[in-house]
Amino acid sequence: VVTGAGGGIGAVIAAQLARLGSHVYLLDLEGAPAVAAEIEPAQGGSTVGIDCDVTDPEAVEKVADRLAEDGRPCDILVNNAALVRLAALEEIALEDWRAVMAVNIDGCFICTQTFGRTMLEREGGSIVNIASVAALNPSPGRAAYPPSKAAMVAFTRQAAVEWGPKRVRVNAICPGLVDSSMKRPGSIDARRRKRTFVPLGRLADPQDIANAVAFLAGDGAAYVSGAVLAVDGAISQIAFRDLNAAPE
Ligand SMILES: NC(=O)c1ccc[n+]([C@@H]2O[C@H](COP(=O)([O-])OP(=O)(O)OC[C@H]3O[C@@H](n4cnc5c(N)ncnc54)[C@H](O)[C@@H]3O)[C@@H](O)[C@H]2O)c1
Repeated sequence: VVTGAGGGIGAVIAAQLARLGSHVYLLDLEGAPAVAAEIEPAQGGSTVGIDCDVTDPEAVEKVADRLAEDGRPCDILVNNAALVRLAALEEIALEDWRAVMAVNIDGCFICTQTFGRTMLEREGGSIVNIASVAALNPSPGRAAYPPSKAAMVAFTRQAAVEWGPKRVRVNAICPGLVDSSMKRPGSIDARRRKRTFVPLGRLADPQDIANAVAFLAGDGAAYVSGAVLAVDGAISQIAFRDLNAAPE
């Protein structure tokens, strides 16, 4: 199950897992069925797109029922759905704060608890939470987003400890600047400028994130749980870059 897979990074993650032979359920508010239909699975994989709001426990439960009917208990969950609201701390409305938290951390919790049930029963599974470098590197003007992603990272560690004895692995990926469709006004130009700050010299391609998901979801990461993997071209390491360039 990949949430927020109706576009952007989530769609690329879903396609990658389907190419590796998974039966992938793509969830999004809208558009997931069309995206699922465009993916070309391989190695016996398949795709199904379902409109589902991850903040609605009943809607998520219905998807779990569907998986049960299909005889495909969830063994990989990618919590990728997210919301960004651009607003400074002194200005952000409580409803916007709550909207961000509702998707980014409540939705992650709801999906983990719901789809994790069959993982616990079957004693195995892999959950990958798509957090952000923002979890540890806040920036002005997005008051709720970095705290929501920090909560996701803490939740990842908590779940890894709680569910480790049942052999359910839980890890987080912290993407840096990704060349995707995340709707931020003026973001494309800003990103072109920002890539000069990335030590690897380019923005991430969504496929870079999908490759990391495939690793964490697969048997190659059998002993990896509670990890927080930066997939960011080292941008999270450059806090002092400007200091070094400062005039004497
Ligand atoms: N793009 C970046 O530069 C970047 C950087 C760091 C982290 N990330 C993270 O990567 C993930 C994907 O980002 P993206 O750039 O593809 O963003 P995006 O906005 O294109 O995709 C997010 C998806 O989540 C869906 N979504 C929102 N609310 C939902 C809900 N209630 N229920 C179901 N789906 C819902 C949206 O419809 C959208 O399709 C997010 O978790 C984001 O925080 C992105």
